[in-house]
Amino acid sequence: MTVHFIGAGPGAPDLLTLRGRDLIAACPVCLYAGSLVPEGVLAHCAPGARIVNTAPLSLDEIIAEIAAAHAAGKDVARLHSGDLSIWSAMGEQLRRLRALGIPFTVTPGVPSFSAAAAALEAELTLPGLSQSVVLTRTAGRASAMPDGEKLAAFAATGAVLAIHLSIHLLDKVVAELTPHYGADCPVAIVWRASWPDQRVVRATLATLDAALGAEMERTALILVGKTLGASDFDESRLYAADYDRRYRPVGTEPRFPEAS
Ligand SMILES: C[S@@+](CC[C@H](N)C(=O)[O-])C[C@H]1O[C@@H](n2cnc3c(N)ncnc32)[C@H](O)[C@@H]1O
Repeated sequence: MTVHFIGAGPGAPDLLTLRGRDLIAACPVCLYAGSLVPEGVLAHCAPGARIVNTAPLSLDEIIAEIAAAHAAGKDVARLHSGDLSIWSAMGEQLRRLRALGIPFTVTPGVPSFSAAAAALEAELTLPGLSQSVVLTRTAGRASAMPDGEKLAAFAATGAVLAIHLSIHLLDKVVAELTPHYGADCPVAIVWRASWPDQRVVRATLATLDAALGAEMERTALILVGKTLGASDFDESRLYAADYDRRYRPVGTEPRFPEAS
């Protein structure tokens, strides 16, 4: 018996890895974080599978579900939205499973920041503008931000920020970022990326408030940075005709002659 932790992606049922889909289909038990994993993803479950929404459960109750499946020798598909490496609460579950000696696997998923960037048709790292993306959030009721990870600290780097779990604090976010990025810095809000009702708003830090109109609800990402919507950036050297590289030796004395 194995518990398969699976990144369920940003929402669209087909934005799931093939491995994730096949594991979901093979497991007689599926536990899913119902607040963000859409019903469409559950369509991959086997007919007759026990499907449990863990949104109303405590960690103890979730582990009890897993322990019961373990005792019955039934594999479990454990779904969390996006990818499991960020804000999935997988860490605390793995710690419990290790202590209980229950085997598990981890299958990554498409994170929401990738789906949001796709909705914007954006490469977030553009030569000469920005080469780093910070995945972050603001402090929440249940989660304080460690010292040194405040928004202003990341903003001081000028990196592109993908700010999660913070749409309800949008005014505060804009006020904190404006001194660092400037009022004309591009910002985009992507609400429910990849869902049928996905919504995108592009603006600058100065114009965002007016551009939004009605208040955005939960499950949105705030993306801020110079690369958003940019058209004035350098081409990458990698594909430059005169750039000598292992896979495309150039010139009379290429750096990697064995490849030619
Ligand atoms: C608990 S975190 C989960 C993050 C997830 N593990 C991931 O890889 O993106 C939830 C936050 O992720 C963002 N999020 C998740 N799905 C989203 C989507 N489809 N569109 C926009 N933002 C999303 C929102 O900021 C939301 O408040």
